[in-house]
Amino acid sequence: MIVSAPAKIILSGEHAVIYGYPALAGALSLRLTLLSNKKPPETELTSVSSALQSLQAKVESTIPRGCGLGSSAALSVAIAAAWQGSTKNRDVIAHKAWKLEQEFHGKSSGIDPTTSTFGGLLWYRRETPHLAIKHSLPISELHFAVLHTGKPAESTGDMVHFVAEQRILHRNKVDELFQNIEHCSRQIVDALLSPDPSSLMAAVNENGQYLEELGVVSPSVKSLLAQLRKDGFSCKISGAGGKTHGSGAVFVYTPDTQRYKQLNTLPYTWDLTTLSPQGVQIEERE
Ligand code: PMV
Repeated sequence: MIVSAPAKIILSGEHAVIYGYPALAGALSLRLTLLSNKKPPETELTSVSSALQSLQAKVESTIPRGCGLGSSAALSVAIAAAWQGSTKNRDVIAHKAWKLEQEFHGKSSGIDPTTSTFGGLLWYRRETPHLAIKHSLPISELHFAVLHTGKPAESTGDMVHFVAEQRILHRNKVDELFQNIEHCSRQIVDALLSPDPSSLMAAVNENGQYLEELGVVSPSVKSLLAQLRKDGFSCKISGAGGKTHGSGAVFVYTPDTQRYKQLNTLPYTWDLTTLSPQGVQIEERE
């Protein structure tokens, strides 16, 4: 069986989503493909490594690893779908993938595996350990850039742990940042759903600045984001970020598509892209 699952980008709400605040994420056209040579056993799915072994699986992927684009979630989703043998029950796949994903970064909201499972654009909120609410939205024709600032020194798990520590030390400040981020998520979703997305730029920048205040953006990436904003782009890190050097993927948006060419002057690679409607998919059966 060949199963493929997409990368994801978080448009708003990362980190806050772990604490029950809403977030907005979409699937990208980058995909991971799992080629399994054996039928799954009738046992429970317990870990990524044992599943890969049981399925005698090979993995191919165009998703950069550890950079905030959901490579580990795509792997968990592809495994969960191969274990099910079908993509009919996507809620079950997303839930099983979420369980597997906790192996990679401990506490996880489930937004990455859910987006990779369903594809498209999702409004997502974890209500309880057993209940997550997601609402699929029409994907807009939004063209945006994903700028690669390098693999962070810290893993997603490290960054999630760092934020948890900050919240213990500075509860009021961190909760206020999360509330502000929620406000941005609402503005961003409305901007995407309205025929005139002009308020998108301000809300993306604001969400980006709150993440910087949270401490999940490295000094060099902070300067890069400040420069981009001066040059008329809106931008924010996407995903867990990084504190020391490199903060993974950065979401960059301007309605003036001609302007993206300016990104060529930066010492980073970037891709101009749109959201993809395609979630997990079974490509072929033998
Ligand atoms: O795995 P990443 O870097 O895409 O981060 C996912 C978003 C977090 O909010 C940091 C973690 C989570 O599970 O929601």
